[in-house]
Amino acid sequence: MAETTGTTETIKGLEDLPGIGPVTAQKLRLAGYNTLEALALAPSRELVDTVGLSEEKAISLSLKAREMLDIKFQTAEELLIQRKEITRLTTGSKALDEILGGGVESRGILELIGEFGVGKTQICLTLCVTVQFPPESGGLDGRVLYIDAEGTFRPERIVEISRNHGLEPVDILKNIVVARAFNSDHQILIGEKTDELVKTENLKLVIVDSIISHFRAEYIGRGTLANRQQKLNRHLHRLLRTAEIHNIPVVVTNQVVASPAMFFGPSNKPAGGHIMAHLSTNRVFIRKSKKSRRIAKIIDSSYLPEAECVFMISDKGIEDVS
Ligand code: GTP
Ligand code: MG
Repeated sequence: MAETTGTTETIKGLEDLPGIGPVTAQKLRLAGYNTLEALALAPSRELVDTVGLSEEKAISLSLKAREMLDIKFQTAEELLIQRKEITRLTTGSKALDEILGGGVESRGILELIGEFGVGKTQICLTLCVTVQFPPESGGLDGRVLYIDAEGTFRPERIVEISRNHGLEPVDILKNIVVARAFNSDHQILIGEKTDELVKTENLKLVIVDSIISHFRAEYIGRGTLANRQQKLNRHLHRLLRTAEIHNIPVVVTNQVVASPAMFFGPSNKPAGGHIMAHLSTNRVFIRKSKKSRRIAKIIDSSYLPEAECVFMISDKGIEDVS
């Protein structure tokens, strides 16, 4: 995929593109394409299916949007420079940061996988606080969008975590935008608005807790699996594009399902199949240890070593074992 060249500060709207009148702009917005960046990076097939554009118009518009935003092919040298723009966010645990290659990285999706009660939500809540740290303390000095699909976001816990990091809870709470997703379609819709929200709300992190629960609850039975995976695919693509366009991390939580194919060892595997595996940039599998201790393991990574670490859930959210 072509990548942006970092000239996104000059904010241009959909109507600035020759060929987009009010009617087309309206159609694009209704389908969730709120910005030129979203249009530029959308596959033309997707524009045909979701906006109802002719194939010719879809190709022409996405081409023009890429030209206007100066998105072009890049040399490996330029890509290396862009890799250097990647920012890293601390999780609150140095050990966990280390196996992630120095923290949660921007321009990608980090997937937190594990059974109920393992601490996925606790990590997400901690990130809502650490993202507001200044860069010298491992933060991104920014605000966060929390897409809450399970209704488990707890402001009281944010208050506690903030206090134990020596921060004023009211200031921290103000910088967390919570969007409760009531079903999978609603979640997809919020996902489509995210790209614009990142700009208008100055977001430096997007969290989806959990990415899969609505999909699993609503699409039951083998016959609906293809449809579910197709929707999940689009949803994740949108989130990944947002991460790439704005150079921010996206963190999602995922459940585990029983894997009957395994005779030995852990019999759980991440839900969401190949789509999930393919679109997550990094995957962390978490399991319980003694008391509040947890073991995190990097799985399926193309560039992180398969390392393991221990962290604990505490009054600071999550932290290293002392
Ligand atoms: P599901 O959403 O059910 O799949 O689980 P999850 O992985 O999101 O688990 P969650 O993050 O909710 O973690 C629950 C664990 O965190 C439990 O072991 C709780 O005991 C622990 N926990 C929750 N709140 C607190 C707290 O305020 N202090 C401490 N020390 N532990 C907590
Ligand atoms: Mg949870």
